[in-house]
Amino acid sequence: MTDGTAFDGTAFDGTASADPNTTLWQRSAEWWQREFTDGVDPEYTEQILPLVVSGVPEPGLVLDVGTGEGQVARTLVASGHHVIGIDPIDSQVRLAQNRATDADTGKSQYAQASAAALPFVSESFDHAVACLVFEHIDDVDGAISELARVVRPGGTFLFLLNHPLLQTPGSGWIDDQIIEPPEQYWRVGPYLTETATIEEVQKDVHIRFVHRPLSRYVNTLYRHGFTLAEMIEPSPPAAFLAQAPQYEDASTIPRLLVLRLLRQ
Ligand SMILES: C[S@@+](CC[C@H](N)C(=O)[O-])C[C@H]1O[C@@H](n2cnc3c(N)ncnc32)[C@H](O)[C@@H]1O
Repeated sequence: MTDGTAFDGTAFDGTASADPNTTLWQRSAEWWQREFTDGVDPEYTEQILPLVVSGVPEPGLVLDVGTGEGQVARTLVASGHHVIGIDPIDSQVRLAQNRATDADTGKSQYAQASAAALPFVSESFDHAVACLVFEHIDDVDGAISELARVVRPGGTFLFLLNHPLLQTPGSGWIDDQIIEPPEQYWRVGPYLTETATIEEVQKDVHIRFVHRPLSRYVNTLYRHGFTLAEMIEPSPPAAFLAQAPQYEDASTIPRLLVLRLLRQ
């Protein structure tokens, strides 16, 4: 199934797809490849990967948009799918290919491409997954339009995001002991404004995040023929809380938003 028939022969245009996001990802890919691969990050192991498996239950050909080092794609292959993973960063694509296990051979393929210019023929995928990728995409309309083009009618698009409302930049747990009585609450940063921020996620590792209100995503998805089948806002998983005790008090605040969408 991953014999290349989905590809339309378009070559990757690295110049056209170079933007501030991909420039920073080019420099920071090694951080992702080290910290977010098999078994390293408890949030992936305990929550994100099981949600991906249950969100795309029917075996088929899946497009993994922004595949990174391929952890999500490998998980989908292990659960019975064939997968093509794309990412604009060459080192991510090469590593995803190298980390594909022997058992994956013929079941996964990786290519350098950007979400807003997918090198595939229309309706060539049964499903698509985008896991924590759209926060790094400026051309949200172009990317969703391309996904709508390549997923066949009746197919699933599983869309995972840092929760756009509750994880808005500037959000966080406030423990105010100055006022009487003291107050603890989750502060939500400026929500309606579409903004890009560069965050130092680890010493000397900078990643650019684009915040948009949830309605911006939902309305664009609907306009392009994706209807909502399920919305999941999971509690932070126990293994994450064990490593982030400062988050314990805010454990009723979801970090993740998952939309399971059907292509009409
Ligand atoms: C946070 S990582 C997630 C990787 C993978 N989906 C996972 O969950 O393990 C975001 C990925 O999106 C990729 N990315 C950035 N801009 C992109 C674009 N315009 N199109 C597709 N992927 C992009 C980055 O190179 C990076 O590999």
